[in-house]
Amino acid sequence: MTPLSDKIASWIQEAGTPITFARFMDMALYDPDHGYYTTGGNRARTGDSSSPIGMEGGDFYTAPCVSPFLAKSLVRQLQEVDALLENPPEFTLLEMGPGEGRLIHDVIDEMATQDLGLLSRLTVILVERSPYLRTFQEQALSAYSSRMKIHWIADLDSLDAESFVGVVVSNELVDAFPVHRVRMESECLKEIYVNYVDGQFVEHLDEPSTDELLNTLKALDVELPDGMTTEINVNAVGWMQQVARVLRRGVVLTIDYGHTSQDYFSPTRKDGTLMCYYRHTVTTNPYERIGEQDMTAHVNFSRLAQVGDTAGLTLTGFTNLMHFFMGLGIDEMVAGYAQESEEVKAAIELLRHQGMGTTFKVLVQHKGLEAPNLQALKHRAFFDGALMPVRCQA
Ligand SMILES: C[S@@+](CC[C@H](N)C(=O)[O-])C[C@H]1O[C@@H](n2cnc3c(N)ncnc32)[C@H](O)[C@@H]1O
Repeated sequence: MTPLSDKIASWIQEAGTPITFARFMDMALYDPDHGYYTTGGNRARTGDSSSPIGMEGGDFYTAPCVSPFLAKSLVRQLQEVDALLENPPEFTLLEMGPGEGRLIHDVIDEMATQDLGLLSRLTVILVERSPYLRTFQEQALSAYSSRMKIHWIADLDSLDAESFVGVVVSNELVDAFPVHRVRMESECLKEIYVNYVDGQFVEHLDEPSTDELLNTLKALDVELPDGMTTEINVNAVGWMQQVARVLRRGVVLTIDYGHTSQDYFSPTRKDGTLMCYYRHTVTTNPYERIGEQDMTAHVNFSRLAQVGDTAGLTLTGFTNLMHFFMGLGIDEMVAGYAQESEEVKAAIELLRHQGMGTTFKVLVQHKGLEAPNLQALKHRAFFDGALMPVRCQA
């Protein structure tokens, strides 16, 4: 048992009722005292100052840990959007879920190195739920924070409607939102709840806790086959609506691992996509090392595009990380490096087929702009319409 599993067990026992898996995952990741992201997987309590995110010492690593190529590509993307917006006097880059702050640090570094005029008009807004990770971000940006406009906020609620012009970016944010888990049983949709019985966490099926679960499947025109377990990310819907609300004009880039709806509900994923990470080991058991391991589910990009469209974000395009990098000229960026250099090895890692290059997708949406023809989308990984609901009877 961990301090957090004790806390969740007592909570269930005192309430006398099981909790939804989404509630369990929210506590496991974000409990204010013991959650994985609140304590860095318990590192904060044991005096370990390392981060939970990283190639060495962490539990998992992300594209910004591999190399600054994502940041360099993002700078090219920001320049392109800046031109489309006709160089506004204030250009905002809002990053949500910046983790250790590597991506934003490398973006500012790249802009400073290239001496871009855009930097003088740049306002950075970092949206971070975890006060623990915010300290890493403050440290990463300490050289810049007194010289430019960098603001931290805990959520998007504190921003006014249509409050800025620019770009909203996230990398591996949506996969960290707590998800509801559902299972089709005898042609009825059931939700997975978590109970605590005889000293163990046990799963329990019951009626869905919210109409949103069935409504999501209906909106996507999906009929789950009997026996299939999957995840429904209701939080992602609210997030997409909030992004649409706060952006006045600009582009939204959502980078994460995930699928079109058709692939999300494919029979090859009949047990869903929930995964846990601990010291670079992957498991599917969310009931061990509670608060000490990361928990994540793949992203349904069709649902994000659908909700965004209704909320005022038009779909610009959908691609994978490999094509995104190629479109933004990663080949030119590595051209000066030797074949055996760390930079070329990092580029290969980011582009790897069946690795980050194709597992990670990039959803691009825009608001207040004519349909932009972005370089990042010039190599097409998917046909137009790939995100549209296709009747899925997996
Ligand atoms: C998997 S980490 C990714 C970190 C970073 N973007 C990277 O690529 O290395 C998820 C990040 O999202 C943050 N996060 C999760 N839910 C959030 C929310 N609702 N609001 C703001 N930040 C959130 C976490 O605290 C963490 O910083």
